Amino acid sequence: GKNGYPFYMEKEIMEQPEAIRNTIKDRIVNGLPDFTSDGVPDSLFTDCDRICVVACGTAMHAGLVAQALVKSIVHVQMDVELASEFMYSDPVIDEKTLVIAVSQSGETIDTLEALKYAKRQGAKCLSVINVKGSSIARESDYVLYTAAGPEIAVASTKAYTTQLSVFYLVVAKMALLRGVYTEEQTKSFIAELERVPEVMQKVLEKRRDIHVIAKKILEAKDLFMIGRGLDYSILLEGSLKLKEVSYIHSEAYASGELKHGPIALITTNTPVVATVTQEKLMSKELSNIKEVKSRGADIVLFIKEALSGDLDTEYQVIKLPDMQDEFMVLPASVALQLLAYYVSSDKGFDVDKPRNLAKVVTVE
Ligand code: M6R
Repeated sequence: GKNGYPFYMEKEIMEQPEAIRNTIKDRIVNGLPDFTSDGVPDSLFTDCDRICVVACGTAMHAGLVAQALVKSIVHVQMDVELASEFMYSDPVIDEKTLVIAVSQSGETIDTLEALKYAKRQGAKCLSVINVKGSSIARESDYVLYTAAGPEIAVASTKAYTTQLSVFYLVVAKMALLRGVYTEEQTKSFIAELERVPEVMQKVLEKRRDIHVIAKKILEAKDLFMIGRGLDYSILLEGSLKLKEVSYIHSEAYASGELKHGPIALITTNTPVVATVTQEKLMSKELSNIKEVKSRGADIVLFIKEALSGDLDTEYQVIKLPDMQDEFMVLPASVALQLLAYYVSSDKGFDVDKPRNLAKVVTVE
């Protein structure tokens, strides 16, 4: 059941600290990432010269975060392909490519077909799956299961953040195996990952403040989400979440791209949601926020607490508890999920069953 919550989506958002704990706990041995119990050999991560994620929707968005981390930390080429486009895009894959399929259900037909195609081309296939024994899991050479438990709401929440936590383990493993991180650096990265559940809990405790902000965008027709780097990656997911449950037209843009077209759509009172969680991007992000503010936009800003020194008081601000910048996607995602959830439930929608959507998509 819903455990006293009005909707599964809220229950599943609230379950995330526990879901992440369950996903990582058996995969950390002596402070280091360990996939022995999954039967995944280290060679899988050292013998590839390229990684390619195939997935759809939210699972694809988890791949985008992983891509940013793998590139910046491990310096290995990684691509993220929409599963539905993959086999028609003449992908460059061979025995040296590690293809990673990401799927909550393990039954999404596009992802399954993409994986089968990759196998025929000789790629090694790993999958990150929530449902045990599902079709994609059975087709894969190796599986890393997320321990999110059953996800009932159509809008994916805990599946996404547990997929991310698996990717943090993979990144740590690759960095260590490839000599990018020392054992000590790997341990400190993993120690930060272990803090995620308690930090997420702090975001969940701010849900009333997020609810207050949600009430201000209920009537919006169009909304924009802007950020750079990892902030942009999580806003793509935040925007998908908002549109699928609240039916508000929402678009995520890389802030630097605004001046190349989309800023034409910003007028008085257009809601703009921004995230600022990466110190190295902060000054450019804040100046892009000022630009849309000066066109009349109403700014909702989710900002890492440590970066929130002197801010424009005209913004509606939610401070996110501090983690190392690479990990801020996790607390930020929870905040964006809550925003989407409250907009939908306040509008009186059937949050768990948005119109036109199915939990598992089995047609191509
Ligand atoms: O079961 P899967 O993870 O393969 O599903 C992929 C997408 O259909 C799914 O993430 C979809 O985008 C969700 N409704 C998003 O909340």
